[in-house]
Amino acid sequence: MVINQTSNTINNELDNKKKPESVAGIAHIRTEDLNLWFSDKHVLVDVNIPIYDKKVTALIGPSGCGKSTLLRCFNRMNDLIPEAKIKGKVLLNEENIYEPKTDITRVRTKVGMVFQRPNPFPKTIYNNIAYGLRVRGEKKKNIDEVVENSLKNAWLWDEVKDRLNASAMSLSGGQQQRLCIARALANDPDIILLDEPTSALDPQSTSRIEELCLELKNKVTILIVTHNIAQAGRISDYTAFMYLGEMVEFEKTKKMFTVPKDKRTEAYLSGVFG
Ligand SMILES: Nc1ncnc2c1ncn2[C@@H]1O[C@H](COP(=O)(O)OP(=O)(O)OP(=O)(O)O)[C@@H](O)[C@H]1O
Ligand SMILES: [Mg+2]
Repeated sequence: MVINQTSNTINNELDNKKKPESVAGIAHIRTEDLNLWFSDKHVLVDVNIPIYDKKVTALIGPSGCGKSTLLRCFNRMNDLIPEAKIKGKVLLNEENIYEPKTDITRVRTKVGMVFQRPNPFPKTIYNNIAYGLRVRGEKKKNIDEVVENSLKNAWLWDEVKDRLNASAMSLSGGQQQRLCIARALANDPDIILLDEPTSALDPQSTSRIEELCLELKNKVTILIVTHNIAQAGRISDYTAFMYLGEMVEFEKTKKMFTVPKDKRTEAYLSGVFG
């Protein structure tokens, strides 16, 4: 979660043309002319986006515009799709994660992911979090501590502390989603990617996750895909609008929502298409 001075300096020296206007700060992760094809279908087109440290960035755009694909580029999840071809860079703390020497497991630890449908392991609540830590060779005492802290940070501890050995499947959808967030937090990530994390949840569970994002951004950088414009308005500092694989506009949320620069952003925000 620490950005060193070097990356700060490099970031400040970036080509101004690539830096979105009226946006300042340190890009924790950013892309440089990122392109992706699924076979011969060009799905991401010259995408340049900074994801700022300890901020919430919302990624919005019509269905099929490439939001999930872009998210998956940030922790090399597209590597699992044989027909995917990638060109360009994804810089995590100014290191290109697509270099051959990259330790992909480490990238996936540092860049955690939470999906649309809660996907806990069919294990106990405790073991959902402990599993990864055990694989990494952590000691039992440390594991107990990390499990407790992760559940506390995901605002789930009070609800589950008396039944840590119950199956994760016995939790409600909203609780399962917070368990998945706790599981990601247990790795001490720099960034958490959330792909429509509340679209399968009821309004009350949704607002808990939204409040949780606002709290978590003190500790981690958050990138959230949402179809809910009001949600983006409530929780994000920055918004990125994508259309047909292009990054049309990136701006402070308040500014984009009041005076969008591009006609397509304006149309999307006013519900003309989507
Ligand atoms: N594994 C794949 N193989 C081939 N094409 C794919 C694959 N995954 C996604 N696509 C295509 O890439 C494009 C972008 O898909 P993506 O899932 O990133 O969109 P999205 O913006 O997340 O949409 P939604 O809002 O519906 O989730 C779509 O045209 C989709 O059909
Ligand atoms: Mg998607």
